[in-house]
Amino acid sequence: MSPTRRSFIELSAATAAASVLPKDFFGQESVDAALCRKLAGDPLRPQYHLLPAHNWMNDPNGPIFFGGRYHMFHQYNPQGAIWGNMNWAHATSPDMFHWHHEPIAISPTPGGPDQDGVFSGSAVLDNGKPAMIYTGVAPPHSAADATLRDGAHTWRESQCLAVAQDNQLRTWKKVAEPVISGPPAGLQVTGFRDPVVWREGDKWMLILGSGFRDKGGAILLYSSSDLRHWTYLHPLVDAPFSGKAAVNPVDTGDMWECPDFFPIGNKHVLLISTMGKVRWKVGTYADHRFEPEREGVVDWGNYYAAKTMLDRNGRRILWGWISESRPDADLIKAGWAGAMSLPRVLSLSATNELETAVAPEVEMLRSAHVGSHEPETSPQNLRVVEEVRIQNLAAEVDLHLSNASEFRLRLHSGNGDFATIACSDRELTVNQTSARFTNIPHSSVKLHIFLDGSVMEIFVNESIAMTARVYQIPSGPLRLKLEGDAKVLSIGTWEIIPISKDRLTGSMCSQKTA
Ligand code: FRU
Repeated sequence: MSPTRRSFIELSAATAAASVLPKDFFGQESVDAALCRKLAGDPLRPQYHLLPAHNWMNDPNGPIFFGGRYHMFHQYNPQGAIWGNMNWAHATSPDMFHWHHEPIAISPTPGGPDQDGVFSGSAVLDNGKPAMIYTGVAPPHSAADATLRDGAHTWRESQCLAVAQDNQLRTWKKVAEPVISGPPAGLQVTGFRDPVVWREGDKWMLILGSGFRDKGGAILLYSSSDLRHWTYLHPLVDAPFSGKAAVNPVDTGDMWECPDFFPIGNKHVLLISTMGKVRWKVGTYADHRFEPEREGVVDWGNYYAAKTMLDRNGRRILWGWISESRPDADLIKAGWAGAMSLPRVLSLSATNELETAVAPEVEMLRSAHVGSHEPETSPQNLRVVEEVRIQNLAAEVDLHLSNASEFRLRLHSGNGDFATIACSDRELTVNQTSARFTNIPHSSVKLHIFLDGSVMEIFVNESIAMTARVYQIPSGPLRLKLEGDAKVLSIGTWEIIPISKDRLTGSMCSQKTA
């Protein structure tokens, strides 16, 4: 089940409780000091991942490097810590790690095509000027007009354009009418959203996440010469029908959300989000059609709606929404929900599988180090593993193991296990969630963990990623215990320096907590 859909469905029940906070505008709202203290002191709230000062966030939108800074936008509910009332929040960074909140960039326009929500979309440079193409949702004119039906909502989706009015990307001017007002005539779609735009020769190309009723997930391909008038070409790619009935077609894989499409080397990569996971397909793009050749899962855990951009050095960077797995009532109580993953650099393996690794600049966040890199036969490495003490739930752990076909790494404190990472020759299991290996060289395993409050981003050999959520406060520093036959080739752990003093609540709370 897609993380967003769960929230769609539970929205009505939780809305009343969620809308108690005053209207949000980072830096200018009146939020009570007790809430500020609670958010800034919440040990489950990340300290080096981007997240809004409070309330709910989901998908990354329109990430772009512009004017010497990284701009990240994301789905945001200014009125509560559950999904609803979608706006685009905005944050900027000099380096993809240190973030500064900016005012909300785009909000629904009453009576406009996005009156019920500014959904996901992408940024593009039009003659050097940033523009956003996103999905607006509004009530349907008639039942036949609705393109989104998930059991809780019935909406008409159209594609809208907004153009930046300043170099800080704080002010956006919307084109009043949608640039794509509805699906191509005659197509019965299961959804129609989340546009991605790129330049190809003298044309703009655009894809949309969709699916064909009783047929299966699909990506619709359009072209344009001015970003404003679009011609539908055909499906870039589609898939067979799941054959399953569901209220929400995203749950059966018959609606593909949040596509992304880009070249790496001499291949193309398509990302889609469906059935609660981001999936990759690597293949060949020719004559405006995509032929997938390999496929897999980008991240097996709490990770959805991924989106890429090129960084200042031309690397393909992947961002994803780290979703929650606790009930809405707990989110409302906590006052925040969701975080952005760390930037991951994408590449292809020798066999054309998609690989990810956190951008190496994460090293700038490292502080106190404990490590050992002795010859494999030395017991010293294992001794160091057991001496590690992780304070404050903010750390990086880099462990290289040999003879690693079966092992368990426990992160534990006085009040028991915080997390167990178990690896066999077929599976990686983190607490209750498993990932299947396709081809892993088991003689040697590189396990890389980024722990940040309730978030754990875990990578095995750059080919398996799993984002886990753990809502547990350890009674003291976390220790590591390695079980199984694996030998420790090296261990490195670092404390991580938080990117703010107040878990990124400063834009809202600085006067209140001082
Ligand atoms: C994915 C998604 C998108 C949509 C957005 C709405 O999480 O459902 O398809 O644009 O969230 O918030």
